[in-house]
Amino acid sequence: MNSDYSVEFRNVTKIYGDSIILRNINFGIQKGKITTILGFSGAGKTTLMKHILGLVMPTEGDVIVLGQMINHLSELELREFRRNFGMVFQYAALFDFLSSFENVAFPLREFTKMNEEEITQKVMGLLDSVGISPEAAKRLPSELSGGMRKRVGLARGLALDPHIMLYDEPTSGLDPITTHTVYDLMRDTHRRNEHRGFTSIIISHDIHATLKYSDYIVFMEQGRVVEHLDVKSFIKSENPIIRRFLEL
Ligand SMILES: Nc1ncnc2c1ncn2[C@@H]1O[C@H](COP(=O)(O)OP(=O)(O)OP(=O)(O)O)[C@@H](O)[C@H]1O
Ligand SMILES: [Mg+2]
Repeated sequence: MNSDYSVEFRNVTKIYGDSIILRNINFGIQKGKITTILGFSGAGKTTLMKHILGLVMPTEGDVIVLGQMINHLSELELREFRRNFGMVFQYAALFDFLSSFENVAFPLREFTKMNEEEITQKVMGLLDSVGISPEAAKRLPSELSGGMRKRVGLARGLALDPHIMLYDEPTSGLDPITTHTVYDLMRDTHRRNEHRGFTSIIISHDIHATLKYSDYIVFMEQGRVVEHLDVKSFIKSENPIIRRFLEL
């Protein structure tokens, strides 16, 4: 096991029915860095991310997360283990019937023994760190803009001080300016937590933002990892599939 990695895939293959979705995946995601998974639609990016969470188990091979072989954990152990992750998905997925404040408080109420005062302090600090005002904290998700909902989603993802943040297309549906503010926020969040080995893993279609904000890039095609490089090397890659992707 390599302790420079927070996630390691070893000979991971995933088969659904007759379809091979992931083909012998072998690579590690650097601890403390921002890694983006790129690739055309259907390449297997979300499936790969679900393996990191133990939501999907490999047909063959092992997935090692924070030193644990997670495909060997029981459902109960997995549930506990998932506290290590923060997740932000495509459609922020906030609870519609809860205010921003209560959305962020939810994991704290669910998983910790914090009292009301501690919860208030923690939630207001998290909302402040993502640029949500105390006034907006009282509003329902339907009363916020798309960009604000992403911010609240990010604050909720950070509530339990995760070691790994996972973002699956966190900026889809946002305009280019808001997209950049969300990326700035992801980077600021990363920097603030970097000292404790915090790892950010992003699935993105946005090539410009990816090149600007990532440390490493994993490029997937048809269930394979075609390249895994630092950004500088990625830009210079002569792989024709990547050239085609970069020139789109
Ligand atoms: N539960 C499942 N059962 C059967 N096939 C699945 C399942 N989940 C995903 N697939 C298939 O696996 C392939 C990869 O899907 P995945 O969602 O990982 O792609 P992706 O790279 O995230 O694509 P996108 O960019 O469109 O989100 C697709 O062909 C999809 O239809
Ligand atoms: Mg996907």
